[in-house]
Amino acid sequence: MTLTPSLRNDRSLQSPRHIALAWSASQRMSLIHPTAVIDPGARLGTGTRVSHFAHVCAGARIDADCMLGQGVYIGNEVSIGRNVNIQNNVSVYDAVTLEDDVFCGPSVVFTNVFNPRAAVTRESNLCKTLIRQGATLGANCTVVCGTTIGRHAFVGAGAVVSRNVPDYALVVGVPARQIGWMSRHGEPLSLPLKGDGIATCPATGERYVLRDGVCALAVEVVA
Ligand SMILES: CC(C)(COP(=O)(O)OP(=O)(O)OC[C@H]1O[C@@H](n2cnc3c(N)ncnc32)[C@H](O)[C@@H]1OP(=O)(O)O)[C@@H](O)C(=O)NCCC(=O)NCCS
Repeated sequence: MTLTPSLRNDRSLQSPRHIALAWSASQRMSLIHPTAVIDPGARLGTGTRVSHFAHVCAGARIDADCMLGQGVYIGNEVSIGRNVNIQNNVSVYDAVTLEDDVFCGPSVVFTNVFNPRAAVTRESNLCKTLIRQGATLGANCTVVCGTTIGRHAFVGAGAVVSRNVPDYALVVGVPARQIGWMSRHGEPLSLPLKGDGIATCPATGERYVLRDGVCALAVEVVA
């Protein structure tokens, strides 16, 4: 969502706080708490909610039906898909992309400089992080930049992710290591870590196929 021209030209609404107030008062599509700061230019989709003391920077692109918890920060070069749930106290820094249906537990930590030094400027050389559709990041986990977390992957609470995580993989620990597979519904799948196998999600009955260590929904696998 962008400000309508009439709102954008109203000088009484130039401060970010007033813009947030104006949005919540005049447009019921987005629910933005009055203490949130939405910088002019930020785009928020219909139905996206922003909680107390959150800050969304001008360049951020956030799709519909998302939830930003208390104290969440969204940087400028950030793209967030539909129905993304970001729990309290998460900072999504520049160069991080969250696809649709991503869940970020409370206090998840993202990074965007691989080898930071206070005395060396590296702002033009940010390292990208991609969290793919449906992935869950457990509470207080850290994602080292440059990694991709696969579709519907599940990162356990407190993990430190320093390598790419395959689709549907369940990883825990420091550094994060794979201990299993998780269905789209968030249920463990009875599959070996490597090789081949077939499993059924106990919650939905959906079938999953593991082929050469790659897990996929059976309906997505080409025979
Ligand atoms: C990963 C998780 C889903 C459990 O998955 P699971 O398949 O049921 O795993 P189990 O409980 O059977 O544990 C399997 C092993 O992994 C370990 N383990 C489980 N979660 C772990 C974690 N977060 N970090 C480290 N080890 C973990 C268990 O201790 C167990 O080890 P053991 O085999 O040596 O006894 C759960 O522990 C978790 O981290 N959930 C995230 C909760 C969260 O952050 N919610 C945020 C919203 S409130």
